[in-house]
Amino acid sequence: MVPPKSYYACQSCGHQSAKWLGRCPECGTWNSLVEETALAPRRQGWEGLPSAAKAQPLVKVEQAKKSAIQIGISELDRALGGGIVPGGVTLVGGDPGIGKSTLLLQALAGLSEREGIIALYVSGEESVTQTKLRADRLGLSPVNLYVLAETNLEAIFAQVDKVKPKVMVIDSVQTIYSSALDSPPGSISQVRETTARIIQLAKLATISTFLIGHVTKDGSLAGPRALEHLVDTVLYFEGEPGSSYRILRVAKNRFGPTDEIGVFEMGEAGLVCVADPSLLFLSERAANVPGSAVVPVLKGTRPVLLEIQALASSAAFGMPRRTALGVDANRVSMIMAVLDRRVGLNLAGTDLFVNVAGGVRIDEPAADLGIAAALASSLRNKPVEGGTVTFGEVGLTGEIRAIRRAELRIREAVKLGFTRCVLPVANEKEVGKLSDAQLVGARTLAQALEICLA
Ligand code: TYD
Ligand code: MG
Repeated sequence: MVPPKSYYACQSCGHQSAKWLGRCPECGTWNSLVEETALAPRRQGWEGLPSAAKAQPLVKVEQAKKSAIQIGISELDRALGGGIVPGGVTLVGGDPGIGKSTLLLQALAGLSEREGIIALYVSGEESVTQTKLRADRLGLSPVNLYVLAETNLEAIFAQVDKVKPKVMVIDSVQTIYSSALDSPPGSISQVRETTARIIQLAKLATISTFLIGHVTKDGSLAGPRALEHLVDTVLYFEGEPGSSYRILRVAKNRFGPTDEIGVFEMGEAGLVCVADPSLLFLSERAANVPGSAVVPVLKGTRPVLLEIQALASSAAFGMPRRTALGVDANRVSMIMAVLDRRVGLNLAGTDLFVNVAGGVRIDEPAADLGIAAALASSLRNKPVEGGTVTFGEVGLTGEIRAIRRAELRIREAVKLGFTRCVLPVANEKEVGKLSDAQLVGARTLAQALEICLA
């Protein structure tokens, strides 16, 4: 018999090498190569292929009756683009303790209760009594929800065959192992193989599946990142340490938009949807303080008001520090350059920090003007007038460019009590007159800042 072929696999990126190396040549991570044994080669050729799938004309493919099934947890449904898709596989990543198990137990319970769907919660981390305790704590007692404490993939498949669930959670992919592989649970080859086989099962038996994956601190070893390309949807569950608020961010979605966010609060009875995130993100804002500007950004279909903070302080020595959190650092550098050259603000010898309060990321050029306003406000030590919001893209010549969906943003700001909006002239013309907000159009950054800081 040919001895099983072994190789060294990088636990960070999956690169394979015949011999051990101290540093992965692919991703540059040190000490990440671990010996793994290859699977017996699968049969090659025509006779090895399953005969079930046949090519057919697209026009003759039957239309799915109902695309998404609502879970009933509004913020989760929003992040998923309407609900779960039959046979769809969703990866939910996040730090340990952030609330992944809680959220998905609530989701399964909701689905099985509302829709009468048979649901299976497979936990490789907790015993069934622990899961029961959690469900009791959350006040859940759905009849059609099954729990299973198991880490062996083949044993899980046997139970799936018995229970025949329509929706399933695997908590977590890092604990599940397949007997077909020698490498330990959590290694990249185990995680990849088990995920691939779970996906296969989900598609064949039309089981909507959630895979939980821990993001590890040291650059996600065999973590969710290595699986992103395999699954249909990738959600990241995030939160600031010490805060009870959680944000569900969409990193990938084959069935819906990717810029949605879901906002939750972790309480005594589990995760509760936050229906009005703007209110939450602005709740701790101190009015009339220099270095703060409010911007209405679009998160998927929903406008959300966020506070951009900036701080300028004189640099102690050498190169001044430039730090940007929650916004693209390159964009911030560009805005700083425009402030320097086109507005005439002197930034040399000043440490500059920009942060989006609440831990949300902004990746819209619409926030440029807000970033510039916060920076200028801190540099001049003059607050942006309290009832003002601002948006617009800043160009390299110092011009303010129009952005999309201005009216939707203004309406959100008005709803939260803002009375004035500084915006690109083109957007002002497009929106026209709004009775409950004063719109002030600006052509250049210098003009816009004059108005904001007046
Ligand atoms: P958990 O869902 O176990 O996190 P994960 O699966 O991502 O590791 O949640 C763990 C934390 O949530 C834990 O610190 C306790 C807290 N928690 C609540 O505050 N309220 C609740 O109702 C529950 C079930 C947990
Ligand atoms: Mg958990």
